[in-house]
Amino acid sequence: MKILITGGAGFIGSHIVDACAAQGFEVTCVDSLDAAVHPRKPDYLRSDVAYSFADLREWQPESSVEDVEAIVHLAALGGVTRASREPANVIDANCRGTARLVEWASRLRNLKCVIVAGSFSVYGSNYEYACPSCGMASNGARYESDLANGRYEVYCRGCNMESQIVPITESASPSPLETYGASKYMQELCFRGFSRAPVTILRFSSVYGDRLRLDDGEATIIARLAGWLQSGKQPRLYEDGRQMRDWVYVGDIVAAVLSILNGASAPSIVNVCSGVPTRLTEACHAIAAAYGVSVVPKIVGGYRPGDMRHCLGDPTTLRKLLGRDPVRFKDGAALAFGPNSRHFLQGSESCAEFSSLTA
Ligand SMILES: NC(=O)c1ccc[n+]([C@@H]2O[C@H](COP(=O)([O-])OP(=O)(O)OC[C@H]3O[C@@H](n4cnc5c(N)ncnc54)[C@H](O)[C@@H]3O)[C@@H](O)[C@H]2O)c1
Ligand SMILES: [Zn+2]
Repeated sequence: MKILITGGAGFIGSHIVDACAAQGFEVTCVDSLDAAVHPRKPDYLRSDVAYSFADLREWQPESSVEDVEAIVHLAALGGVTRASREPANVIDANCRGTARLVEWASRLRNLKCVIVAGSFSVYGSNYEYACPSCGMASNGARYESDLANGRYEVYCRGCNMESQIVPITESASPSPLETYGASKYMQELCFRGFSRAPVTILRFSSVYGDRLRLDDGEATIIARLAGWLQSGKQPRLYEDGRQMRDWVYVGDIVAAVLSILNGASAPSIVNVCSGVPTRLTEACHAIAAAYGVSVVPKIVGGYRPGDMRHCLGDPTTLRKLLGRDPVRFKDGAALAFGPNSRHFLQGSESCAEFSSLTA
C-alpha cells in the first residue's frame, strides 16, 4: 500500500512511519520540520522513507504521490501556549495547511482511506459529572469559594457530595476553549463533505511514549512531569495533586492507525484514550519508578482559575478497533520512561509559562 503521512517527522508521526515501513507499506512523508519543534533534524528519520520537507501551506505535491491509497494527516503546530503566542501562525498552519491537503486529496483516484489526528482539546471543558449519591448530573464548574477553601473536587449542586467525572464519548459536542483546540476542530471540519474516501478522525487524549519531547516550552503536563523527574527535580503540583488525567500510550495510536489501514471499519470519530484515570501524584510515582529515581512531588495547593479538575475519555470504540484494552498508564509508563526509551530534553526553564496544573 502507498501512504502519505503528514507530520511524519514528529513525535507520533515517526512511530506511525516506523510501523508502516515495518508492514512493507510505501511511505512518503510531508513535514515542515518546524524549527520550534525540531531545533535539528531528528536522528530517527528513515532511509527507506521518502521525505518531502515542506510546509503544507506551500507544498507542491510530486507526481509520485498522486496514486496514494491512504493519507494519515498528523501535521499540526501544537501547544496551547504557542497558539496563544502566535495564533495567526497556528491557525494558518493547521487550518490552511489542512485545507490545501483536502483540496489536493479530493482529486486522488486511488485514495481509499483518510485518517486525521484530532485532539481531546476540541471538547474543551465539556465534561459531565454525576453525583453517586443523588444521581444529579452537572458540568465540571467549581465555586471560587470551594477552591479557596481547598475543596478542589466538583461538588453536587443537589446534595453537595463529591461528583464523579463521566468518561467523555465521541457524541459530546466540540467546544474548544482556546486557539489550538479551535484549530484542531477546524482541521476536522475541513474534511466535511469530503467524498473521495472514508475519513476517520482519531481524537487523541494527551499522548506519551518514546520520543516525547520533555520540557520544551510547549510541553504537555505529562512531558513536563517526566522532564522534571528525569532530571531529578521535584514536580510541583497545584491543588492537591489528585487531579485525574487520561494519557494514551503512543503504541495504541499506532495500533489504531494500522488497524484502519489494514481494512478495519471505523466510525468517523474515535476517541483514542486509555479510559483509565490516573492522578497526577500516581503519574509522578510511576514515572519516577520507571526512571529509577525516588523523587516525590511537592503539593503546593492553590489553584488556577479555569483549570479542569479531571479529564477522562471513553475508549469503547477504540477497544473494538484494537480488539483489546488500551494500555494503562501504570504499564505504559515503564515502556515509555524505562531505560530503553528515548526522550528529548530541550531547555529546562523555558516552560515556566506553561501553567496548567503544575506550579
Ligand atoms: N502529542 C499529543 O499529546 C497530542 C494530543 C492530541 C492530538 N495530537 C495531534 O497529533 C498530531 C501529531 O502530534 P505530535 O505530538 O506528534 O506533534 P509534533 O509537533 O511532534 O509533530 C507534528 C509534526 O508536524 C510538522 N508540521 C507542523 N505543521 C506543519 C505544516 N503546516 N506542514 C507540514 N508539517 C507540519 C512538524 O514539523 C512536526 O514534525 C498533531 O496533529 C497534534 O495536534 C497530539
Ligand atoms: Zn447529589
